[in-house]
Amino acid sequence: MNNFNFIAPVYDFLARLVFFGAIKRSQLALLSELKSCKEVLIVGGGSGWILSALDALQAPMKITYLEKSTVMLGMSKNRRPLKYLKVDFVLGDIQELPKVIYDGVITNYFLDVLSEVELKTTMSLIDTQSSANVKWLCTDFKPAQVWYHRPLLSIMFLFFKLTAQIGSKQILDFDKYFRGLNYNQKMYRHFYNQLIKTAIYEKN
Ligand SMILES: C[S@@+](CC[C@H](N)C(=O)[O-])C[C@H]1O[C@@H](n2cnc3c(N)ncnc32)[C@H](O)[C@@H]1O
Repeated sequence: MNNFNFIAPVYDFLARLVFFGAIKRSQLALLSELKSCKEVLIVGGGSGWILSALDALQAPMKITYLEKSTVMLGMSKNRRPLKYLKVDFVLGDIQELPKVIYDGVITNYFLDVLSEVELKTTMSLIDTQSSANVKWLCTDFKPAQVWYHRPLLSIMFLFFKLTAQIGSKQILDFDKYFRGLNYNQKMYRHFYNQLIKTAIYEKN
């Protein structure tokens, strides 16, 4: 399940092509909110361009970069040298999470590849290793808002089912799971006619 090795070399290109740059713009919109964070967890960061964007904030941070794909992780390591970030690259899934307490979390277009069971386990494990003042940046798709979102999401799921064997079957209402863990949405922005949302969540 969830093997992005095959698609990794072309993932960023395809994402840019299909969503006209909204995938990247959405991840950048609220990124600077994490500037004050010192210990940041990135799960499913992909090819690692987000590391260069974080480094550009010019704020010293320790990063745990947890990625399941060897190819994606290799590409991420090649983003170095980074000036302000000290990055611990970890290959694997949430079970490999080092015992660190995080005050920043980034899950961008990651929760959407998980089945509901995996989503619940993953989010609650992250929560248990998050500080009381954590800022959790989550950027992802929302359930279809207008008619053409539905076929777009269906094609996307079919594509990732075939190329990356993703474990999910549909876009879940991620807000519901954040609320279940007692997180409040502090701020948010929409993209692509509300198909995409980026938000900062904080504990109540
Ligand atoms: C849809 S891609 C998004 C990549 C990146 N966040 C972006 O937006 O460009 C999902 C990423 O999550 C990784 N991934 C999937 N399942 C994972 C898991 N259980 N643990 C860690 N990473 C995982 C994949 O290898 C892939 O790089």
